[in-house]
Amino acid sequence: MKYFIVTYGCQMNVHESEKIAAILEKLGYSCAEKREDVDIIVFNTCAIREGAEDRVFGNVGNLKKLKKKNKDLIIVLCGCMTQKEETAKKMLRTFPFVDIVIGTFNLPKLADYIKQVKDGRQLEIWQEGDIDEVLPYKRTSGDNAWVNIMQGCNNFCTYCIVPYVRGREKSRSEENILNEIKQIISEKKYNKITLLGQNVNSYGKDLNPPVSFAQLLKDICKLEGDFKISFMTSHPKDLTDEVIDVIANEDKIEKYIHLPAQSGNNRILNLMNRKYTREKYLSIIDKIREKIPNCRITSDFIVGFPSETEEEFEDTYSLVKQVQFDSIFAFMYSPREGTVASKMNDQVPEIEKHRRVNKLLNLEKDIQKETGKK
Ligand code: SAH
Ligand code: SF4
Ligand code: F3S
Repeated sequence: MKYFIVTYGCQMNVHESEKIAAILEKLGYSCAEKREDVDIIVFNTCAIREGAEDRVFGNVGNLKKLKKKNKDLIIVLCGCMTQKEETAKKMLRTFPFVDIVIGTFNLPKLADYIKQVKDGRQLEIWQEGDIDEVLPYKRTSGDNAWVNIMQGCNNFCTYCIVPYVRGREKSRSEENILNEIKQIISEKKYNKITLLGQNVNSYGKDLNPPVSFAQLLKDICKLEGDFKISFMTSHPKDLTDEVIDVIANEDKIEKYIHLPAQSGNNRILNLMNRKYTREKYLSIIDKIREKIPNCRITSDFIVGFPSETEEEFEDTYSLVKQVQFDSIFAFMYSPREGTVASKMNDQVPEIEKHRRVNKLLNLEKDIQKETGKK
């Protein structure tokens, strides 16, 4: 019995696919090289932009042929798209050959769903649950081991679907995280450990007693062994001086921060509900550069947010030019149903978004050429 997993989206999803792999292997499946001759195929989906969803719809559609050839093939759709009730229902309607559609919170029950499908049932389930602390992973990212430290997001940036599909922030207990890392170190297969969360800087606020992200980092660095720690993603409003100091002082922490700015214009930042200004962002960058010389800094930007004018886009352009990031991701704003921004007036035309994103990416190329950064 063989399985194949197709993963879309962020590192969180990549890591969750490692959990799915472990579930399937426990059921007796083994990993296949290609999707053509397998017994179960899982699509772990992403909902962050429309393009991501379109790709999933196209690729799931193509599975119809495989299912025709092999009637026993089990097809599972999970991840962030299927956590949205409307989308999950649409997928069930559009793809009658799909066997299981489950949301992000239902993974611990995946094995049960698979067993039930063999009795001919199609399932559709979505509900928010507790953070999963128990399921093992089959690590698949070479010498890097992902460690989830929290899930969900409370920030509700007005463009973003994540808080709706991943629920509120929930931190794992520090003890469980440290135990997982000790286990990783003892296996001696991994040089790098990457801590994952939508907003790692608010780690531990919901624990009793609370533990700060800086404290967690310090405690991890006390563990014996030869390893490097990195983490993502940091929200500028929550990146404390203490965390910057820990990165500066601890040899085991990589000198690298991914710090999404999203925009360089204060009116747009306010409309995005990012809770910092251009000036505040730049002051954090100054602090990082002062305390951690040679720190690699990368960022994310969205162009064409509703009502963004050319001048306001130029503020983003000038911020990128000023900071000289090591690299950036630039995205065209994509309206997500149910979010505040999708209902805003003055949506920017697609052609204009294309122009802005290209201009920003060309600037990035120029900066990389000039500075030799990559
Ligand atoms: N939790 C992370 C980001 C997760 S999503 C953070 O807060 O930084 C990764 C990136 O996708 C975001 O930084 C943003 O730049 C982009 N993104 C999110 N929603 C988007 C949307 N509706 N349209 C375009 N880009 C979006
Ligand atoms: Fe989305 Fe904002 Fe949360 Fe990041 S911080 S996941 S962009 S709502
Ligand atoms: Fe996509 Fe979900 Fe990650 S929407 S970016 S896979 S948290």
